[in-house]
Amino acid sequence: MVGNYRSRVAGTGSYLPEKLLTNADLEKMVETNDQWITERTGIQRRHLAADGENTSDLALKASQKALAEAGLTAQDLDLVLVATVSGDQVMPSTACVLQSKLGCRQIMAFDLSAACSGFVYGLSVADQFIRTGMYKNILVVGAEVLHRFVNYKDRETCILFGDAAGAWVVTRAQEGDSNIIMSSHLHADGNLGELFVLPAGGSAIPFSQQVLDDGTQYVRMKGREIFKHAVRTLTQCCHEALEANGCKPDQVDWLVPHQANARILDSVADHFNFPKEKVVMNLHETGNTSAASIPVAFDLAKQEGKIKRGQLILLAAFGAGLTSGSVLLRY
Ligand code: ACO
Repeated sequence: MVGNYRSRVAGTGSYLPEKLLTNADLEKMVETNDQWITERTGIQRRHLAADGENTSDLALKASQKALAEAGLTAQDLDLVLVATVSGDQVMPSTACVLQSKLGCRQIMAFDLSAACSGFVYGLSVADQFIRTGMYKNILVVGAEVLHRFVNYKDRETCILFGDAAGAWVVTRAQEGDSNIIMSSHLHADGNLGELFVLPAGGSAIPFSQQVLDDGTQYVRMKGREIFKHAVRTLTQCCHEALEANGCKPDQVDWLVPHQANARILDSVADHFNFPKEKVVMNLHETGNTSAASIPVAFDLAKQEGKIKRGQLILLAAFGAGLTSGSVLLRY
């Protein structure tokens, strides 16, 4: 079965829930203000899932759009992969829930936990399955309803996160097709895991009254330290991807980075010696949507007519773990 195939992006889709949480709303909830949030993060609003709207619901809407654009149906899929750290429940996986909602065959479905790097990790996994010839059509989704894990009394975290889903259908490319995933490079540094954690709900701290009393069901973050690592790691990921492919920054049409903080992305552009106008940035509209951030940023830039077929696109991610990685592709 070992083949020499390559993968291409056949369709993309995204979904942002309707409900909005603006900086003005947050001013009424914690001691903060629009000017501080805008200047320190670039975020102006975030979309939040409605009550009863879950991660798999967001994933379904993004996936349906990606399948339609690819000209495929759920029956054509060989694998459903959902990158998330805020799945519908611990078990079964959100990928299994999505597989059922889409009406797929009894194909492989699993969740992937790599926080904000999850989508780039997922693309790399899909690429490996296609390169070997094992599968032809793979749905890769990044979906989060993170706001349910955020403490709206903690002004350092509650201003950052939003909910969203983005999906790509990745398929086997025809021989000679130059629009392919060219490379992926993935990393993790577990020694820095304590910088961004969601302590409770696993086997280490199962749910109890104590969890609610301590608030350990919410994310905890050392923001300033993450900031430094994010700039360094994202810059390294960009260089690594280009060096592996013998490319120079001026050949890249768009850098689509994880949408964490506008100042992080500006700093990466400076360190990478890359024009800021070619960095896709729409976090003013979305906030940080973790695993959904890159496919949503890509899809919104595509809808705006920025990203076009045939362009060289560099995806770069970092997230809790700390995980990081890049994908270079000709779209
Ligand atoms: N409103 C007003 N003031 C605030 C707020 C707020 N929402 N939050 C913090 N402050 C205050 C602090 O208390 C501090 O006050 P002090 O000087 O009196 O002590 C001051 O602002 C500066 O605080 P810093 O932490 O130094 O602010 P910084 O410029 O670093 O911005 C931020 C904080 C926005 C969190 C930034 O560090 C950041 O974005 N870090 C990366 C976070 C991130 O990306 N997390 C997720 C990574 S993993 C993933 O994406 C899933």
